[in-house]
Amino acid sequence: MITFVWAEDQNRLIGREGDLPWNLPADMAFFKKVTLTGNVAMGRKTLDSIPNPPLKNRVNYVMTRNQSFDQPGVVICHSKEELLEAAEKTDKPLHVIGGVSLFEAFIDEVDMLYRTVIHDTFEGDTFMPEIDYTQFELVEKREGTVDSNNVHAHTFEIYKRKH
Ligand SMILES: NC(=O)c1ccc[n+]([C@@H]2O[C@H](COP(=O)([O-])OP(=O)(O)OC[C@H]3O[C@@H](n4cnc5c(N)ncnc54)[C@H](OP(=O)(O)O)[C@@H]3O)[C@@H](O)[C@H]2O)c1
Repeated sequence: MITFVWAEDQNRLIGREGDLPWNLPADMAFFKKVTLTGNVAMGRKTLDSIPNPPLKNRVNYVMTRNQSFDQPGVVICHSKEELLEAAEKTDKPLHVIGGVSLFEAFIDEVDMLYRTVIHDTFEGDTFMPEIDYTQFELVEKREGTVDSNNVHAHTFEIYKRKH
């Protein structure tokens, strides 16, 4: 099973200058809980945005075209086919965690979407590709808790592809 796990603002913004545009620990916790059920796939720039890579207790598949790229603790893949071949050796869910190029590459295969909507607008430069939500069914929707550490209203949504 392939999933997407991401957070976007009201304009589908997901990134700013190689980082997240917001600080929302509750979403980081949600991300961790979901992705710990399987392994993660990401683009090289998303890897660069992670403070102490790799993400622990998950196989980290990283896509790069750079043949000499090296990063301890990750599985480097130079194509989608190579990534899928590596990931198929386990029956765990493959959580695609961005960025844009990875979401675009897996849009036709993705089975589930874990979308956090942040009900705010931010400045940034990286946007989630458009998704045809008519192909998916909303199976869970939960309002996040706003508190002093999580000042942006947010909603956790889970979609399943209609078959
Ligand atoms: N809000 C969220 O949920 C979320 C999630 C993920 C990321 N982000 C944000 O998004 C930004 C990073 O994402 P991004 O979209 O700019 O970059 P990205 O997709 O993470 O990485 C792009 C890189 O992936 C490699 N790549 C892409 N397609 C490939 C292919 N077909 N074959 C081999 N390698 C391939 C290339 O690496 P090389 O250049 O090394 O060849 C490319 O430059 C950051 O700001 C990050 O914080 C946000």
